[in-house]
Order: sequence, then C-alpha cells, then structure tokens
Amino acid sequence: MKIGLDEARALDARDPLARFRAEFELPPATPLYFAGHSLGLMPKRTRAYVEEELDAWSREAVEGHFAGERPWMPYHELVAAPLARIAGAREGEVVAMNSLSVNLHLLLVSFYRPTPARHKILIEEGAFPSDRYAVASQARFHGFPDAVVEVPRGADPRELVDDTIAVVLIGSPNFLTGEAFDLRAIARSAQLAAVAAGAVAGSWPASSAARSHRAASSNRPAR
Ligand SMILES: Cc1ncc(COP(=O)(O)O)c(C=O)c1O
Repeated sequence: MKIGLDEARALDARDPLARFRAEFELPPATPLYFAGHSLGLMPKRTRAYVEEELDAWSREAVEGHFAGERPWMPYHELVAAPLARIAGAREGEVVAMNSLSVNLHLLLVSFYRPTPARHKILIEEGAFPSDRYAVASQARFHGFPDAVVEVPRGADPRELVDDTIAVVLIGSPNFLTGEAFDLRAIARSAQLAAVAAGAVAGSWPASSAARSHRAASSNRPAR
C-alpha cells in the first residue's frame, strides 16, 4: 500500500499512540523506524532506570539481591502486575523469566510429548527464526526431524490441525507480516483434535491462550 506524505501526516495526527513518540530515542539518521517487530526504539526512560540499578549495585554490591528499593532476587514479583496487564492475564498466570527462546524450550519440554502417530508441530510460515529453530531442535531431539509443519502465509492454521499434530505454536501477531491470528479459535480446534484422538489437550486454557501472544496445544495426557 502506498500513501502520500500528507495522508501519512493525517494518519499520524489521528493516531492515539503518536503522543508516545517523544518518549523514544530516534536514531538521528532514521526519521522513520519500521523494525518494531525486532528491537524497538530505546525508551528515553531506560537510561535512568538502568543507572538506578547500577547505583544500587555500587551501593549494595551483592546485597543488592535483597536490599534497596528494587531488590533483584524477587524481581519477577515486582513486574508481575504490569506484565499481567499487558498479557491480559491474572498475576498468578504470568512470570518474567529467562529469554524468550529458553521459555519456548521449557514450554515444549512440558507440552511436546510426541508419539510415532502424533508428533507434528504446527507453526506459522515466517515465524521468528529462533522460534522456528526451537521447535525444530525439540523435534530432532525426540527423533522426529521432519515434524515441523508450516502454515502457509494467509492460510488458516485450523485447516491443518488434525490428529497427527502434537503441538500448535503460533506467534501472533506474526513478526514479519503483522498478521494477527484468532488464537482462541486456533487453541479450541487444536484441543478438539486432541480430544478426538483420545487425549486431552494439555495447554493452558483456550481463554488464556487467546489472551496471550501464543497458542499452544498438545497431546499431553490429562492428569
Ligand atoms: C517472536 C520472538 N521470538 C524470539 C525472539 C528471541 O528472543 P530471545 O533472544 O529472548 O530468545 C524474539 C526477540 O525479539 C521475538 O520477538
């Protein structure tokens, strides 16, 4: 889609988020920044926040884990409330930990229980490369090197869900195209397929999956 400068300015003027623009550092040579799918712009407040932690380190040394305004050891408790607001979840349902790829592996260790009949992992085409690598390496680790099935761009993941699929992992919005998926509907159809095959989907509930950035479902047996 091509639009002219005037139209772009008019869209900016109507954009309720435009008022946040001044809160970010814009690289001088980059008046327009379109890499929001990757590392976003640096919020101006970041520098002060990082310096506060450096000050705490210089003041407290190792005691910074337990002392000061924001002790580091229980940092995940300090960020639970805002994170829950972002994810649309309850505080007890979220935790900030590790890196995204490590968390994906942990998720797959729990939910990916492949069998010869049901071992495929459904992921959208154009997924973030390290997400794709994470599912591929889990599949290889379990001895199913060809397990990864990509949903072609523009297709509905639900059309590919059947009783050979062990896990559905969809990033929404897709990092490359910005396409948003109906995670609630995808999680529901994945769970139905698992039930039809005689197993109960072991993902988190469809409602929370729909509220989160990812939908995952698996053939993990009910406990
Ligand atoms: C969708 C997605 N997956 C994976 C990553 C990589 O995350 P990490 O370096 O925390 O493993 C990113 C980072 O931007 C991401 O946006």
